[in-house]
Amino acid sequence: MRLYEKVAVITGGGNGIGRETAFRFAEEGARVVVADYDRDSGEKVLASLKEKGHEGIFVQVNVADQESVKQMVDASMKAYGKIDILINNAGVTSDGFLAKLAAEEWQKVIDVNLTGVFYCAQSVIPVMIEQGKGKIINTSSVSGVYGNVGQSNYAATKAGVVGLTKTWAKELGRKGINVNAVAPGFIETGMVAKVPEKVIAKMKEQVPLQRLGKPSDIANAYLYLASEESNYVNGTVLHVDGGIIM
Ligand code: CAA
Ligand code: NAI
Repeated sequence: MRLYEKVAVITGGGNGIGRETAFRFAEEGARVVVADYDRDSGEKVLASLKEKGHEGIFVQVNVADQESVKQMVDASMKAYGKIDILINNAGVTSDGFLAKLAAEEWQKVIDVNLTGVFYCAQSVIPVMIEQGKGKIINTSSVSGVYGNVGQSNYAATKAGVVGLTKTWAKELGRKGINVNAVAPGFIETGMVAKVPEKVIAKMKEQVPLQRLGKPSDIANAYLYLASEESNYVNGTVLHVDGGIIM
């Protein structure tokens, strides 16, 4: 029980990596706040958690909307009275080559993946400062760290997340808050399912492990950074990508 009685807010908890993380954390004893824009998926995750005897709530949130994020924090506090862990996992893509990328596609991805991370962390830290401890885990990407064809907007946000992680680690360390990031490689979720087959084939060839990652590969990395085992890890970016770029 590595997260016994911890309260974990997981944005994007309704699908893919976030969904897997909700189950993984619950198995380790956490009370999970499944926070997602997608009500159907989020409610299904919650029902499934309850069926397995786990504790949790679903909160509908748009991380790109500051008021909505504040309500997410209020709902979590009302249910459990504390927030030990924030997993800033919600994210979107809107891929296209630079020459063709519309300003709206640029802005949409910035709003969710970068501004959303800022809103969530800013709303949660008063609670964590009051507690004198907390763990914030952000989600970068191989695309943000090394760049990726067709992802100007997305790569900019995921590189930005690295900057936020290191800045907040420096600002918040003295308040007892650890801030780290996971940078996944290509993981089998709905996000990667949109990528053309020929591009997926190229990606697999580049991975020394010769496969895409699974949501559980990332959930386990989040778990390490959320648990007491990583108490002296701060400001790091944990690459979980099968060794795609070395
Ligand atoms: N890596 C290498 N080559 C790529 C590539 C990539 N990521 N994306 C596209 N290409 C190549 C294509 O293979 C193609 O090569 P050929 O001309 O030799 O066939 C060429 O670029 C043109 O591609 P398209 O014919 O598909 O051009 P398009 O204008 O119709 O579409 C695109 C462009 C929207 C960028 C589309 O190619 C695409 O969706 N590419 C995938 C982008 C991508 O990798 N997204 C990652 C999503 S998963 C994610 O974001 C999670 C994460 O954090 C990693
Ligand atoms: P996914 O598309 O399966 O799930 C994303 C979830 O975020 C969905 O449930 C969606 O409803 C939610 N979401 C989207 N916009 C939201 C908003 N404005 N407010 C609240 N929730 C919102 O994606 P996946 O693959 O599980 O991605 C999770 C995180 O991991 C994202 O930050 C993504 O950028 C990152 N990532 C994913 C990789 C992959 O290969 N799948 C690789 C590297 C990073």
